[in-house]
Amino acid sequence: MTAEKPNGSDPSMMDTELGRLVVEQQLATQEEVDQCLSLRAENGEDASQQTLADFLVQEGVVTKRQITRVAAKIDEARKGQQIPGYRIESKLGRGAMATVFKAHQLSLDRSVAIKVMPRRLSENAEYVERFYREGQAAAKLNHANIVQAFDVGEAGGYHYFVMEYVKGHTVHDEIAEGKTFSEVEALKIVIQIARALEHAHGLGLIHRDVKPKNIMITETRQAKLADMGLAREASDSVTAQAEAGRAFGTPYYISPEQIRGKVDIDFRADIYSLGATFYHMVTGRVPFEGDTPAAVMHMHLTEPLKPPDHLNTELSSGLGEVVETMMAKDRRRRYSSTSDLLLDLEAISRGETPLQARKQIDTELLSGLANQAEPSLPLDTEVLPTAVGTDLKVYVILLAAGLVACLMVILLLLANR
Ligand SMILES: Nc1ncnc2c1ncn2[C@@H]1O[C@H](COP(=O)(O)OP(=O)(O)OP(=O)(O)O)[C@@H](O)[C@H]1O
Ligand SMILES: [Mg+2]
Repeated sequence: MTAEKPNGSDPSMMDTELGRLVVEQQLATQEEVDQCLSLRAENGEDASQQTLADFLVQEGVVTKRQITRVAAKIDEARKGQQIPGYRIESKLGRGAMATVFKAHQLSLDRSVAIKVMPRRLSENAEYVERFYREGQAAAKLNHANIVQAFDVGEAGGYHYFVMEYVKGHTVHDEIAEGKTFSEVEALKIVIQIARALEHAHGLGLIHRDVKPKNIMITETRQAKLADMGLAREASDSVTAQAEAGRAFGTPYYISPEQIRGKVDIDFRADIYSLGATFYHMVTGRVPFEGDTPAAVMHMHLTEPLKPPDHLNTELSSGLGEVVETMMAKDRRRRYSSTSDLLLDLEAISRGETPLQARKQIDTELLSGLANQAEPSLPLDTEVLPTAVGTDLKVYVILLAAGLVACLMVILLLLANR
């Protein structure tokens, strides 16, 4: 007896999907599914002809009718996963927004990763427009530390994003296993991602979602920034709220200006998020922990950062200075370019002083002194250039002084007559 199978599907993928669905629909418990999977494994050779569905029916866990219904559902979902020119091979992972598959690109005979967006997004015209616009911008990037974007398109009502397939895992996976990175090890990764960002920022592209889940590590420990140029569903703060609550969710790395819903997000938001990622890697803790996503976001806005080198005393004070500069709440106090950040990252990896961070601190001290006489600016208020206004004032004063001097000379001459 063989239960109905979706056409042309990989049996192991089908089993994973079917196992998940029967548990989700409360037709079976996870233990029952696991039991049937081990039965299938025990049967060795014979098992090749029998699927999880067959064992679930054989063991009386579900009825044949129930399994047919579940299989039909999977078949329907698979229709959205048929992309002309590609053969879907396995599922790589699933994020808050989409599912990523490993696939084979038939024309070029190479492995690729395809991110399939949920159908509801295809119905959002504004999102679709951004999806193509940002995809095109990402395709112009070419950097060893960026997951290369290959293609965007639509098939069967689903939009998809085709990219370089990276054999490896994410920084999040290593953190989730309980790893705390040494300073040297973390720097090797953070420097590569800062180089990726320098390249993207140079071409005017901002990532907006730098986090451990979006940093992939290959077998040779090459770091690659994923999801560059992938349009997000909503504003950063709305997305953060929606994704929050899950362990390692977005609000742990989001910049204060994104939380505030500012529209002119620039490279400094990515520097903040990379700083938060760096912090997590070397301390084993996210910069701000709270009971609710709103609490975490509030802390990004107001709570002073505990220096990473205080949490992990093996870290250098230089690293502490760099992370604190990257994560300054007021973006004017962060690095003024990604290249400046790289100079400091490279300096501390040589055991030298982070001069760019020091420069930033000196400027801050000076502006602090200057501001003592004046009320301080509200956080993140942009400083408008004042040079023009000041120059004008000087000219007016000089002109007035000149006129007064001329007048006095004339009066003196008249008086001497
Ligand atoms: N180019 C790729 N090559 C190989 N695996 C990938 C690739 N892109 C993503 N993945 C895998 O797919 C998983 C899901 O990725 P996705 O971007 O959808 O979500 P995420 O970044 O993990 O989380 P979130 O949706 O919360 O941002 C990743 O965690 C990673 O393991
Ligand atoms: Mg991702």
